[in-house]
Amino acid sequence: MQRNKHRCLSNSDRPDEYIMKFISENTEITGEQSLTPEIKLRLFTPSCRFWRERPELWPFADPYWAIYWPGGQALSRYLLDNPEVCQGMTVLDLGSGCGASAIAAKMCGATHVVANDIDTVAAVATSMNCELNGLEPLICVADNMIGSELEGFDLILLGDMFYEETIATSLHSWLDHCIRTHGTKVLIGDPGRAQFQEHCIRRLLHQLAHFELPEPVKEENYGLTCSNVWYYNPQF
Ligand SMILES: C[S@@+](CC[C@H](N)C(=O)[O-])C[C@H]1O[C@@H](n2cnc3c(N)ncnc32)[C@H](O)[C@@H]1O
Repeated sequence: MQRNKHRCLSNSDRPDEYIMKFISENTEITGEQSLTPEIKLRLFTPSCRFWRERPELWPFADPYWAIYWPGGQALSRYLLDNPEVCQGMTVLDLGSGCGASAIAAKMCGATHVVANDIDTVAAVATSMNCELNGLEPLICVADNMIGSELEGFDLILLGDMFYEETIATSLHSWLDHCIRTHGTKVLIGDPGRAQFQEHCIRRLLHQLAHFELPEPVKEENYGLTCSNVWYYNPQF
C-alpha cells in the first residue's frame, strides 16, 4: 500500500465501534509468518482490499498499526525467549502500532503494560489483538509521551521507532533523561534502518539478539534480511 498523503479525517472523529468494524473487514488474522507465531494479529495482507486500493480512499491516518514491523518482531521474539526481562515489570511500549511487543510483555508476566501510540486507531487494533490472544485489553495511551516526565516504568520498549531522524533525535535525549533520572531500562528493536545505523545513539547500544527474518517478512520489507535487539545503557 502506498503512503496516504490525504488525511481526510481525524481518527478521533470516529467512534470505536466503527473503527472495530472497519479493522475486522479490512485486515486478516495472521500469525505463522512472523518471528512470533505464538502472537496472532490483525494485519494487512495481500488479500485485504486496501493492499492495492487507492490510498486516498483510506479514511484514517497512515495505518502503521496494520503492519508488524521487523524491529517490533525482533523485540517481541527476544521478550518471549527471555521472559525474565519483563516478569513483574511495569512496561511502556512506545510507538506500539499493532501492540505486539506490549502483548509479548504481558504474555511474559509483566505486571503493568501501557501501549502508547499517537494514532488512536492503533489503540483499537491493540485491544482487538489482545482479545485474539486471550488477554484482557491493555491500557492504551494516545498522547505524545516523548519528552514527558516518565515515572513508574521499569522498561521502555521501542520497536522500529528509529525510522525518521527527527524522532530518533527526540527519542535519544528523552531516553537519556529517563535512564538518568528514573533508572528506566530501554530495549530497541531495529532491522538496520539507515536512520538508526547513522544516528549517534547507535554507538551507545549493546546488541542483545540477532534474528534472520522469515522469508515472507523479507519479501514485504524489501532489502531487509535480519533484525536486532539493542540495550541502551549510556555512560553519563
Ligand atoms: C514503524 S511503526 C512501529 C510499530 C510497532 N512498534 C512495531 O514494531 O510493529 C511506528 C509507530 O510509532 C507511532 N508513533 C510515531 N510517533 C510517535 C510518538 N511520538 N509517540 C508514540 N507513537 C508514535 C506510529 O503511529 C506507528 O504506529
